[in-house]
This record gives sequence, structure tokens and C-alpha cells, in this order.
Amino acid sequence: MPLAIDVLTLFPRMLDGFLAESILGKGIAAGYLGVKVHDLRAWATDKHRTADDRPFGGGAGMVLKPEPVFAAIEQLQTPGCRRIYLTPDGLPLSPAMAQSLARERHLIFLSGHYEGIDQRIRDHVIDQEVSIGDYVLTNGTLAAAVVIDALARFIPGVLGEEKSLTHESFSSKLLDFPQYTRPAEFRGMSVPEVLLSGNHAEIEKWRAARQMEKTRQVRPDLLN
Ligand code: ADE
Repeated sequence: MPLAIDVLTLFPRMLDGFLAESILGKGIAAGYLGVKVHDLRAWATDKHRTADDRPFGGGAGMVLKPEPVFAAIEQLQTPGCRRIYLTPDGLPLSPAMAQSLARERHLIFLSGHYEGIDQRIRDHVIDQEVSIGDYVLTNGTLAAAVVIDALARFIPGVLGEEKSLTHESFSSKLLDFPQYTRPAEFRGMSVPEVLLSGNHAEIEKWRAARQMEKTRQVRPDLLN
């Protein structure tokens, strides 16, 4: 059974292009995973389809109401599924987290509202809170897209060539080495000689050195 993903959002169309394009689109078309996007307003019961309201206690902005979210999750959830809320105050997304999510059978992603969601949602119908980084998006829909993209790469078959997973940044805890392709000479800029040498031991050595150099410059924190 392929991984089934449901996304609950107030902005379903934000994901249209994302799900159709690229490696992810191919993975979905090939049946490695299935993604359904739902408009939360479909579960709002009043005639204006209200999904948010002003916060108790005062303050700026609007808060996602419990009723439509509980109704949506109760309808979509399956035994053993993982219900994930995207929020900047969640646990930071990591490769290990993406990999473990890729092993699940059914994921439900709840995209939050700018100002937040009623705490009772978090307390009762959410299993895991995930942040994609220390910055605040206007809503969690793109964050859900990022998590889906990151985990899809760990589903066997999605990337086609398994090698591309193991050889890249973060699986080795180092940043990547530079890549070059033809032509060997372009506007006077030439490809490093060693890469044209055919000497695989030397190429590996050169790549490892570039990885260290890049990591030391850009992400010294990864070396500790
Ligand atoms: N919603 C708004 N900002 C977010 C972030 N950085 N991560 C996850 N969800 C979010």
C-alpha cells in the first residue's frame, strides 16, 4: 500500500502546481504515494463557512476554530495514522524525521493559520508538531509541501536512482561538493582538471576536501 497523505488547509490551490510537477508529481503518478488536498471550509457548518474567529483574551488576528478541524480529522483519520500540525513552534524538520514519516502508512497534515489555532486541536487531534525553520510563513500550507517533498525522497522508487540519496548533503552531515557537466570549457571558465582525469581515487579525495571546505565556511556547526 502506498503512503496516503491528506492535507487540510484554508488555501488548497496553493498546492496545485506543487503536486503536479517534478519528481514528486511523477512519484504520485506512479503510485508511490497519494496526496489529497482538502479545503477546511468544507467542514464549516455555518452559512458563511467560517473556519476562524477572534482569540479569547484579546489580541490581534484570527484563530482557527476547533469544530471544522475536529470534524475534518475525525472523518479522515484511520487507525494508526499520524496527525501533524505545521507550526513554527514545532519540532524542527530533519532528515531523520522525514525518513521516519516516509515509513508511515497514512499522514494527515494540518496547515495552520497566521495567528494560530485553538489549543484544543493541538491537545486532542494532533500527534506531532513540525516546523520547517525559524521564520514565520503566512500559513502552514507551504510548510506541509516542504515536509511532503522531503519525505517523498525517502520512499523507495520515488527518486529512481537510490544512489542520489546516499551521496548527498546531510546523509553524510557535510555539505555537497561542486558539480560540473559539459562543456569542459565555457566562456573561459574551465572545469577542475581532476574531474577530467578519470582517476577515481583522486576525484573522491578532491570531492571530500571541497565538502570539508564548504561545510567549514557555511555550516561550521555541522562539524561539531
Ligand atoms: N507555519 C508558519 N510558519 C511555519 C514554519 N516555519 N514551519 C511550519 N509551519 C509554519
